[in-house]
Amino acid sequence: MKLKDKYRVEIIDEDNIGNGISKIDNFVIFINNALKGEILDIEITKINKHYAVGKILNIVKKNNKRIEVVCKYYNSCGGCNFLHTTYENEIENKINYLEKLFQTKINYLNNSSNLNYRNKVTLHVDNGVLGYYNDKTHNLCEIDYCYLLNDKINDKIKEIKKYNLKDITEIMIRCISNKIMINITTNNENIDLKNIECDCLYINNKYVKGEKYLIDIIDNIKYSIYPNSFYQVNNEVMKFIYDKAKEYIESDDTLLDLYCGTGTIGIYLKDNFKHITGLEINTSSIENAKINLELNNINNIEYICDDAKNIKGKFDAIIVDPPRIGLSNQVIEYLNKSNSKKLVYISCNPNTLKRDINKLNNYNLEEISSSSMFPRTKHIECVCKLVRKE
Ligand SMILES: C[S@@+](CC[C@H](N)C(=O)[O-])C[C@H]1O[C@@H](n2cnc3c(N)ncnc32)[C@H](O)[C@@H]1O
Repeated sequence: MKLKDKYRVEIIDEDNIGNGISKIDNFVIFINNALKGEILDIEITKINKHYAVGKILNIVKKNNKRIEVVCKYYNSCGGCNFLHTTYENEIENKINYLEKLFQTKINYLNNSSNLNYRNKVTLHVDNGVLGYYNDKTHNLCEIDYCYLLNDKINDKIKEIKKYNLKDITEIMIRCISNKIMINITTNNENIDLKNIECDCLYINNKYVKGEKYLIDIIDNIKYSIYPNSFYQVNNEVMKFIYDKAKEYIESDDTLLDLYCGTGTIGIYLKDNFKHITGLEINTSSIENAKINLELNNINNIEYICDDAKNIKGKFDAIIVDPPRIGLSNQVIEYLNKSNSKKLVYISCNPNTLKRDINKLNNYNLEEISSSSMFPRTKHIECVCKLVRKE
């Protein structure tokens, strides 16, 4: 087999990131956007030691789960992986993948919207052109509309594109409670774009005009958000995940909310514990967390701004919600030695979650739930209940 060779193949399986799988003389070929049962004419685009990659030239026999792709950038932007198939099929692939990985049944939490759900985007600007960087090709794909984004953000993108963006490298746009926050990264702070209408404007992380932070309200609790603070991107699913975490962690005297961001989870659980400690490395998120205590008249939570690896102390229950890299060995060691009866692990990367659960040898995995925080993309969110071994 060599590059540009052409074959007619049958797709025998699908993976969790939007590829169909075929075999030629027992050698595995991944074909982007292909579906099980389809017969396709393909061209080989990449050959590795253990597998090759092919692209579809022609669909000879189509799977009825194939749908018309709504986005004109699907093949160049790299952000979405499942726009060629039904949402039900995407979920089925992701759940199958999780069930194989964890060798257990996954409790799936259904959500309603699979498009226009994101409340935040970071767009790159290259020579005045605004778009996404494709993480495979590293090429900038110019966009004027993204089906994953809230439509207020899409409207703002159209407006931004009318300005001269020459000196700009990055633009972050957030839409919270129908209000728009923009943070521009530029080497010239005197840009025309600073005149854009929005509720909150920052340039190079410095406040320029409007409100200093945006406020989201969930179940009557107010959450403040600065441009550099972490905030879950999908409001509907964030609530599902937090409700599941609440059910799994139950109530007790003390809770540790590790990797707490702006304190959202701990605050959501404030009535289930006598005292909560939140720890987070990002100073801007911790500032928001402290503002959130005032906004909601809360007096049973304290925050520490530090690296999770420095965590000390004993807690009845612990929630961890690390970034994609998962837990450090120091955190794993702390958790294994801790006396906490219950541990809830929220994760946006099933592979590091699996790795960490294997290392948490003083805990048994009791249940895993998953929900589509990032529909139409390859990403998966999970929340796990772990209980200390007797
Ligand atoms: C997935 S977010 C979760 C935030 C929060 N639990 C929420 O639901 O909004 C992960 C958080 O971990 C923080 N973080 C990353 N590395 C860290 C570290 N080494 N120590 C403490 N916090 C860290 C990030 O700043 C981010 O706020």
